[in-house]
Amino acid sequence: MADYDLLVIGTGPGGYVCAIKAAQLGLKVGVVEKRATHGGTCLNIGCIPSKALLHTSELFEEAGHSFEDFGIKVGKPKLDLKSMMGHKQKTIDGNVGGIDYLFKKNKITAHHGTGRILSPGRVEVKADDDSTTILEAKSIVIATGSDVAPLPGVEIDEKQVVSSTGALELDKVPGKLIVVGAGVIGLELGSVWRRLGSEVVVVEFMDKILGPMDADVSRNFQRILKKQGMTFHLSSKVTAVEKKGKQLAVTVEPAAGGEAAAETLEADVVLVAIGRRPVTAGLGLEEAGVALDDRGRVKTDAHYQTNVPGIYAIGDVIAGPMLAHKAEDEGVALAEILAGQAGHVNYGVIPGVVYTSPEVADVGKTEEQLKAEGIDYKVGKFAFMANGRAKAMNHTEGFVKVLADKETDKVLGVHIIGHGAGEMIHEAAVLMEFGGSSEDLARTCHAHPTMSEAVKEAAMAAFAKPIHA
Ligand code: FAD
Ligand code: NAI
Repeated sequence: MADYDLLVIGTGPGGYVCAIKAAQLGLKVGVVEKRATHGGTCLNIGCIPSKALLHTSELFEEAGHSFEDFGIKVGKPKLDLKSMMGHKQKTIDGNVGGIDYLFKKNKITAHHGTGRILSPGRVEVKADDDSTTILEAKSIVIATGSDVAPLPGVEIDEKQVVSSTGALELDKVPGKLIVVGAGVIGLELGSVWRRLGSEVVVVEFMDKILGPMDADVSRNFQRILKKQGMTFHLSSKVTAVEKKGKQLAVTVEPAAGGEAAAETLEADVVLVAIGRRPVTAGLGLEEAGVALDDRGRVKTDAHYQTNVPGIYAIGDVIAGPMLAHKAEDEGVALAEILAGQAGHVNYGVIPGVVYTSPEVADVGKTEEQLKAEGIDYKVGKFAFMANGRAKAMNHTEGFVKVLADKETDKVLGVHIIGHGAGEMIHEAAVLMEFGGSSEDLARTCHAHPTMSEAVKEAAMAAFAKPIHA
């Protein structure tokens, strides 16, 4: 008899959620994790610690720059970075401890060690002392997540040249921080260190920041970040980082090439944030015959099964956005499928949030995607400048943009820059999940005074006319 109905390799948001859901549905579940604590990238070195630092650094900046506007005099705030990092660690500990509790509650057995698939149904677990155990399971789930994509020729030492992991642990505020990549990590962690006092310069390969986002959002958000003090070198790439004692000499060239136009920038710390790549090495995939796609991700069918029956994969290690909630929803869907139910993820309605200040959030299609797909659409836009609550809080930057089908009025995409955008986006997600129209949204009573009234007004602007603009 197999040890488990289901054995999950990796306990990030994909793996741990899949394990819990499967146990709730009556399966006997085991997990294998090589990290000392559960929760994967997200809880240990990703979503959670970055949000702890984003929150505390935002408070620090507000205390120094915004309180006085509200009549609160506190003097110049002093940074205690060690305590700030202590809060971050406490947040991590609380969250990873929560997973231990949930595993126990759901009678899930956790094996500590590195998992390797020997054949369908058999996994070897190598412990830190090199001892091995063989586990048998009817189904195996690969949920090994992703890791930092390296920048060719640039060595990450996590001290001077850091990935997101090192950028979450710096022991002093860098005088000058160069961020390579204007994606989500670069802009979130760049914001953290700028608020704490660094001069932040961002070098981005493309001609816009936050590449996949709506161009209107990207343009406006760049303007906001620039006003906050970030500098941008777009259509540029970093080709070398040279250590000169405590300083770094960073070579920046036009993205299109051209050494002649190269310039050298000095920095104390360089953050490499040019994307992440799936973790598949050492898992025995080749030996087990598990196929990868052209970008090195585990290939699955619509039910998360690989080409080898009984071996499944979810989360960052497969195609799709590398987001914790996407991984979690795949975990739930797969557990349901394995328990004989109809699990499903709607990939058209996965919200994305950048937790900067203001936040940026979107769900559904961008204008560029609608144009490329030849879909006729209408746009409803409303600025927070005209929202009463935003004015009361001095959070008037940004807007809500609703994109709806020209003929049917069905909402196809919603894009928000604004304080609390990451919370507001969910009313758009629910609406879209139910196939709602901009009129449905506009006719839904919204409490006053809330930032969310701007979502209603943007919907009104798409279907009729806004009241307050
Ligand atoms: P992971 O979380 O990467 O977990 C995989 C686990 O598998 C790891 O614990 C690893 O140790 C383990 N593992 C790997 N190989 C083996 C093996 N052979 N044997 C045993 N164990 C193994 N996403 C959001 O949605 N919101 C955010 O705010 C956000 N912020 C982020 C901030 C940063 C700095 C980073 C780096 C990422 C952030 N992400 C965010 C992305 C998010 O962390 C990932 O999308 C998510 O963690 C993916 O979950 P996963 O379960 O697929 O993989
Ligand atoms: P990303 O894919 O978001 O952005 C990387 C950026 O680097 C792109 O704009 C790309 O054009 C640029 N780039 C690539 N090569 C370059 C080069 N040589 N020189 C200059 N620029 C270059 O990747 P990022 O920010 O590393 O994040 C990785 C993943 O983690 C993302 O997929 C994201 O979804 C996830 N994440 C999500 C967060 C959230 O949901 N709030 C927060 C942080 C990470």
